[in-house]
Amino acid sequence: MAKSPELVIYDLDGVITDTAEFHYLAWKNLAEQLGILIDRNFNEQLKGISRMDSLDRILELGSSAKPFSYEEKVELATRKNSYYLELIEAITPDHILPGIKNLLQENREANIKIALGSASKNAPLILEKLGLSHYFDYVVDADKVKKGKPDPETFTAAADALGVSYSNCIGIEDAAAGVEAVNQANMFSVGVGDRAHLAHAHYLVNETSELDFQKITQQFQKWRQTY
Ligand code: BG6
Ligand code: MG
Repeated sequence: MAKSPELVIYDLDGVITDTAEFHYLAWKNLAEQLGILIDRNFNEQLKGISRMDSLDRILELGSSAKPFSYEEKVELATRKNSYYLELIEAITPDHILPGIKNLLQENREANIKIALGSASKNAPLILEKLGLSHYFDYVVDADKVKKGKPDPETFTAAADALGVSYSNCIGIEDAAAGVEAVNQANMFSVGVGDRAHLAHAHYLVNETSELDFQKITQQFQKWRQTY
């Protein structure tokens, strides 16, 4: 008999809600103060990456700038986060991406566990603002892991906490680093977005409105048979 998944782990930024734009605007504001210009193309490589790692990539881009001490970097990252918190103040359930509420509902009705696997320290706050916290059996945010994506820890931590084997898990991601993390965890990866960035996903859709719970489960079962 075909094996059903036991746990689906959702990324937050770019899968459940589009906070990527807010992260971009907040980083752009900080980078400009340091005389560093970033654009949306550069921002692609910041998706799924932790706050401090994102700062390092921006500082590397402006490599002519002076080196910063750890304390100075903490101040810069905190400043970026204060811009970000101002921007996300306005988030409401209207900011849930198309198809996601339905997907979570079908996921729950199928009695399959639900976890969040996010690199963001703001994840619990955002879930609260979206009115979605009650769907989640477990939340992994940046404070619960030592190594961020593309390391698999964000995903394996969710499976470990809920007592599920990795091969019975699905991870849904919009970032290249996230898909890599799911694959490294030996889980079934669902990518949302452009093939140019997400070619390694086991199953790929263009946008969240195309995420269909039945289809995802069928694709998981095909993959699981060859596992
Ligand atoms: C990820 C985002 O979910 O969280 C990244 O894709 C972001 O862009 C990272 O840098 C960390 O977020 P936060 O809220 O802890 O600064
Ligand atoms: Mg994401």
